[in-house]
Amino acid sequence: MTRRSQRRHKWSATLTRIRGVHKGAMGAILNRQDGVGPTGRPFLRWAGAKRAFVGQLSALVPLQFDTYYEPFMGAASLFFFMKPAKAKLSDSATELVKTFRDVRNDPHGVHAAIAQWGVDRETYYEVRRLHNLTGVSRSARFIYLNKTCWNGLYRVNKSGQFNVPFGLPKSQNIVSLDDLLSCSKSLQSAVAITCTDFEQAVEDCRADDFVFFDPPYVTSHSDTGFKDYNETLFSWDDQKRLAECAHRIARKGTKVLVTNADHPAITSLYHSSEVHRLYRHSTLAGSGTHRRAITELVIKVHK
Ligand SMILES: C[S@@+](CC[C@H](N)C(=O)[O-])C[C@H]1O[C@@H](n2cnc3c(N)ncnc32)[C@H](O)[C@@H]1O
Repeated sequence: MTRRSQRRHKWSATLTRIRGVHKGAMGAILNRQDGVGPTGRPFLRWAGAKRAFVGQLSALVPLQFDTYYEPFMGAASLFFFMKPAKAKLSDSATELVKTFRDVRNDPHGVHAAIAQWGVDRETYYEVRRLHNLTGVSRSARFIYLNKTCWNGLYRVNKSGQFNVPFGLPKSQNIVSLDDLLSCSKSLQSAVAITCTDFEQAVEDCRADDFVFFDPPYVTSHSDTGFKDYNETLFSWDDQKRLAECAHRIARKGTKVLVTNADHPAITSLYHSSEVHRLYRHSTLAGSGTHRRAITELVIKVHK
């Protein structure tokens, strides 16, 4: 076996292991919706989204819980993958929250509004200049820009206006009606989709609930990682506030998982908790063959 095929073999064995774990765990989770759409794919691209990790994460999700909370919703990758039977989703990004509500309530309307725009540079900048849209058109614009801008980045200027350049999307099909319908169906279980700070979002959680905290990753040593994608930066004080909040709700019996950067400053905030590592392979820029493993932490805060 050449070194290259050895590497491929190792990675495919890892994938098989991950898929095996996730199949087993998902089969056993007791509060999933039944018969919900096939894809489990989020309808947005989002910085820090956990799409690559959902298999590994689902193996750590408790087998039984009442309400699923995701207070740093973003694209809600784990939510769409797991399709819990009852959920409370929230985020501090206002436009994101409105878009999730519109996709839940009126996927046909959102899709029709997206379909009026072509996928080309000129239309992109026209849509980017539309600041006064209301109703589903506003959410359609959010999805359109997200899917056609550079790298799915969400960045606004000082006046709150989206300012990411066109991203040369590979496909004309931004989001299919089937995908939106599937997401809308999953979102019927979201009894609340709110725009709020994470701490407030989990105020009402109870002992039999499960909270998945997936914050922006910023450590005291490096605050560059995800700095660009929100109006307000998630500071080191916020990381400390999050750790305190996670411990507080875990003490009352709530099951809590927190993801974060693989950094000693983070592990020191959760020194009494069980720490796991999530692995993903990334191809180094400029080379199709050199892979390196990227790790992130997932911390099981409950006992
Ligand atoms: C890493 S992303 C979440 C990704 C998501 N879990 C996924 O898989 O797509 C972090 C999210 O936290 C949100 N956020 C930042 N500060 C927040 C705060 N104080 N309270 C609630 N949400 C916040 C951001 O708007 C962003 O959507």
